[in-house]
Order: sequence, then structure tokens, then C-alpha cells
Amino acid sequence: MNYPPKHSDPISKLAPVMLVTGSAKRIGAAIIQAAHQQGYRVIIHCHHSQLEADSLAEALNQIRAASAVVIVVDLAVVNRQTTLNPFIQKIIDAFGQLDVLVHNASRFYPTAVGHLTYDQWDELFLTNAKVPLLLSQALLPYLQAQHGCIISLLDIHAHDKPFSGYIIYNMAKAAQRMMVQSLALDMAPYVRVNGIAPGVNVLPETDSDQALDEQQQHRIVASIPMQRIGTPDDIAHCVLYLAQASYITGEIITVDGGRSLTLAGSNH
Ligand SMILES: NC(=O)c1ccc[n+]([C@@H]2O[C@H](COP(=O)([O-])OP(=O)(O)OC[C@H]3O[C@@H](n4cnc5c(N)ncnc54)[C@H](OP(=O)(O)O)[C@@H]3O)[C@@H](O)[C@H]2O)c1
Repeated sequence: MNYPPKHSDPISKLAPVMLVTGSAKRIGAAIIQAAHQQGYRVIIHCHHSQLEADSLAEALNQIRAASAVVIVVDLAVVNRQTTLNPFIQKIIDAFGQLDVLVHNASRFYPTAVGHLTYDQWDELFLTNAKVPLLLSQALLPYLQAQHGCIISLLDIHAHDKPFSGYIIYNMAKAAQRMMVQSLALDMAPYVRVNGIAPGVNVLPETDSDQALDEQQQHRIVASIPMQRIGTPDDIAHCVLYLAQASYITGEIITVDGGRSLTLAGSNH
């Protein structure tokens, strides 16, 4: 196949292909598994979690041969055209097409005003705003050829209700939210662009510096009208819905068990 594809190239009749960034584990892995179950061929992207990514791909390839591929890369490659191009080529070489791009990879940690650093700004804006925009731009010709779509994982704290103590993350997610709405206009009518705003769907890992104690977890559950933490599958279900919702673009669906209704901007 020649890259980029010409606009008039026919839409492939093969199983559609979905790329999910940061999908070795947690929400990303749930999206990959749900999409694969629906017949998608999947590209699992990871950076540090290659072991998890490889074993996920192996399990999926056992179910259907040649249906899952792993790409390992630090998404900082978007900072230079010379490093971005080989990444894009790898994505397209995986299956020869791309139908759905899911922006899932992210960094998330508190940033205290008075102690903000340039590195925090760079990392949080890179992963939550710059990567989604530059990847979307680079993959547009391929998505266009398939009349595909982009789905971005946002946050209920991306507008109106900032998460106390997380100013840079909040700002980066707000930028990503505006990207969804702007790209929906700029990429129509060939590529749809939508967002999903999770509430609390997976708690930080227990061995991470963001881990929550039992009391904090109880407080969170008490603040959720549905009285439970969400699941990665709740998000995956919404991704698959948006992937086939051919008249929805520029929309942001909140998947938070009603949590945003009760929040006026608070921390755990
Ligand atoms: N968890 C929640 O309840 C929740 C709530 C609100 C919003 N969200 C949003 O939903 C999405 C998924 O959440 P999550 O908690 O499952 O995500 P996560 O575990 O915090 O991050 C997903 C993956 O992002 C990848 N990543 C981070 N920086 C990267 C870089 N520089 N290059 C390549 N990969 C990088 C990591 O891959 P490696 O491990 O391979 O390095 C990581 O496993 C995120 O966009 C998040 O903001 C989640």
C-alpha cells in the first residue's frame, strides 16, 4: 500500500483496526479486549509495560491469529517530525489501515501551586494534550480513508469542576477537551471526533505514589450516586458505542456514575 492513502481509496472490507495508546493495562487494556471481542484487529501501544502488553497480545492472538500487535514507544516521539514519522509508519504497517484511534495514554499526579515545575508542565501537557493533537493530525489521512473516528479519554475535571491540587493536569485535560470539539469541526465530514469523561473508574495502583488509603476510597464511593467505583469495562462499552455512532461528533459523554453531579471541585 502507498502511504498516505489517496482520498478515493476504497474503504477496506477487512475487520476494522483500532489503536489504543497506553493500552497494556487498566482502562486501555479493557478497551482493547472489548474491541477485539467485537471483531476488531487491535494495536496495543505501551511504553514501560511491555510485559503486560505482550501477554495481552499473545492471549488475543490465540483467540484469533494475527489480530493483535504491540508497539512500544515513548510518546515523546511526537516532539520531532523525524521521530514521529517512523511511529506513524509502524502503526500503519501493523495492519495496513486504521479505523479508530483512541487517546488513552496519560500522566496523572498532583502539582502544588508554589512548587510547580517545568518538567511537570511538559509531561502533563505532552501526554494529555500535545500527543493527542499531533497523533490525530499525523493519522488523519489514514482515518479519512476509512471514514474512521477518534475517541479521546478526558476527565470530569476537564472543565467547570477542577480537581483541587491538580492544576496542570486539569489545564491539560481542558486543552484535550477543546481539541475534541475543535477537531470534530476541522475533520468533518470524514472523521468523527468524540470524548469520554470518566469519573473514578480505576483507582491508582496500590504500589504507586498516588495510591489511596481505605478512608479516601470510602469517601469517593460515598460521593458517587451509583455508590460504586466505575469499571474499565464501563469506559470500553462507551468507546465501542461511539466507534459505531455514525451521526455523533464533537460529543463528550460522561461516564462517572453521577459523580460530577455531586462535585463542586474537591479532592479525594
Ligand atoms: N483511572 C480513572 O479512573 C480515570 C479517571 C478520569 C480520567 N481517566 C482518563 O482515562 C485514561 C485512562 O486512565 P488510566 O488510569 O487507565 O491511565 P493510566 O494507567 O494512568 O495510564 C495509561 C498508560 O499511559 C501510558 N503513558 C503515560 N505516559 C506515556 C508516555 N510518555 N509514552 C507512552 N505511554 C505513556 C502508560 O503506559 P506504560 O505503562 O506502558 O508506560 C500507562 O500505562 C487516561 O487518559 C485518564 O486521564 C481515567
